[in-house]
Amino acid sequence: MAIRMIRLEGDPVLREVAKPVPEITKNVLKLLDDMAETMYDAEGVGLAAPQVGISKRIIVIDCGDGLIEMINPEILEKSGEQTGPEGCLSIPGLTAEVKRANYVKAKGLNRYGEEIIVEGEGLKARCLQHEIDHLNGVLFTDYLNPLDILKKRQPSER
Ligand code: NI
Repeated sequence: MAIRMIRLEGDPVLREVAKPVPEITKNVLKLLDDMAETMYDAEGVGLAAPQVGISKRIIVIDCGDGLIEMINPEILEKSGEQTGPEGCLSIPGLTAEVKRANYVKAKGLNRYGEEIIVEGEGLKARCLQHEIDHLNGVLFTDYLNPLDILKKRQPSER
């Protein structure tokens, strides 16, 4: 396992639409291991492959109930609404309130190629939406008013 470099806002890979994973190879398994290690090292609750420079549809999350790895995740259902603080390892120093669905049900593959269903409310639902957004080149700041973002950024980052 290895900690990979987290790509920061402005890196074009974060804006690409990531490619589906056709086959779970040794490289994919290594990537999953490295992504989990990188996420825990950075004290994040989720990480998407584009954040380590790999434009593939893979996410890892851990919102306090253990590590979940998803390959080719897709949201099947969402409902309700929540507004809460959100941040991103690719946008250090910025947190802002983001409106999201309160419940999400998603499907994807685990590392063995088996279909898994992951559902959750609150933080877990937020996490799933945030990480799957990354696979579509979407950052949480896209939901914010640009002027609010400017005000919230630390002066050194302006
Ligand atoms: Ni993020």
